[in-house]
Amino acid sequence: MDYYLKCIECGADFDKTEIIYTCRKCDGLLDVIYDYDEIKKNMDMEKLKTAPPSVWKYKDLLPIAIEPVSIREGGTPLYKCDRLAKKIGVKELYVKHEGMNPTGSFKDRGMTVGVSKAIELGMKTVACASTGNTSAALAIYGAKAGIPSVVLLPAGKVALGKIGQALMHGAKVIMIKGNFDDALALVRELCEQEPIYLLNSVNPYRLEGQKTIAFEIVDQLGFKVPDRVVLPVGNAGNITAINKGFKEFVTLGITDKRPKMTGIQTEGACPIVKAYKADADDITPEKNPETIATAIRIGDPVNARKALIAIKESGGMAESVTDAELVQAQKDLAQLEGIGVEPASATSVAGLKKLVDAGLISKDETVVCVTTGHLLKDPEEVISVCTEPVTVEANLEALRKAVFE
Ligand code: F0G
Repeated sequence: MDYYLKCIECGADFDKTEIIYTCRKCDGLLDVIYDYDEIKKNMDMEKLKTAPPSVWKYKDLLPIAIEPVSIREGGTPLYKCDRLAKKIGVKELYVKHEGMNPTGSFKDRGMTVGVSKAIELGMKTVACASTGNTSAALAIYGAKAGIPSVVLLPAGKVALGKIGQALMHGAKVIMIKGNFDDALALVRELCEQEPIYLLNSVNPYRLEGQKTIAFEIVDQLGFKVPDRVVLPVGNAGNITAINKGFKEFVTLGITDKRPKMTGIQTEGACPIVKAYKADADDITPEKNPETIATAIRIGDPVNARKALIAIKESGGMAESVTDAELVQAQKDLAQLEGIGVEPASATSVAGLKKLVDAGLISKDETVVCVTTGHLLKDPEEVISVCTEPVTVEANLEALRKAVFE
């Protein structure tokens, strides 16, 4: 399949054989550009309509020629959530639960493509900075591919489950005395100097994997497009990727409209929201981001320019929520719908509620909230926000008292 990389700022082109993360002329972000006429000609439409969703179901739209490094990612459930819809006050609400991916987050979609690309390019080591989930996914796909992985994490600010995954799957785990933004700047420098393949979402191939969330949503809604997709925003890759997926289905004539992309951050880490509200086309980095949602504790999102374009051109918006609002949404998802998510993921539902309450989202819309990571990623947060279990003597009287009082 033919494709190349194109700078979103100056339009410079780069060949697919190059190992490059940003534009060599202006340092702008890169996009993967395909020959859509060729794809259209070769695409098996019957299979598209009938095969079960998974990342590699859409391989005609993915830039990998080798047998991919895969542990069966994607194909996550899209739940219709009537009780939650009623509480929030929207007509039709779905939750796309990306926590059901093999490593418990949507990052698997990007890493199956990203690590496959590393192998295809002949790279022998992969690396990333991470708030946790990216590192877990990189460790696992690196292990599956049989190549070493190096992950940089902000010391003291990564959920336990994610560190456990990175360690057990054999990554070299390095804690940085700084935040995620510091770690990302460092790993970018390292990968410029050494033959190590950078797999943060500044790498456009990662986003190609993540765009399959859009394909699956359309697929699972019976080839209908929702009015709006709401999701958490951290480094701002996923909102960009999903928007690209919806656009490609329109380009290919599979769908005829696109949803409004709506990004949610927390009040303690919301540079994208501030830029959106100021109608600016770039962010002002925040030096000390802070939130209980450690996955999106990011002050200088690398994909900000792409994300702001995606929000604007899709007619979407950006909003921030408090930690208290996201914890309430996390409990609502868990207790009304049986969907267990980590704190960052719950911002999508908290943000939707806030925007519906404010009258900024119509109650008649069909909305999909993306929940990006599983509850078990961050057990310490759960313990800190839920009532402690009671401990009783091992006899029936004490048990009765505990059950019925
Ligand atoms: N939700 C979860 C659970 C995440 O882990 C992340 C990002 C996001 C949302 C935001 O996605 O960055 O594409 O806007 N986690 C990255 C990591 C930064 O290192 O795991 P984004």
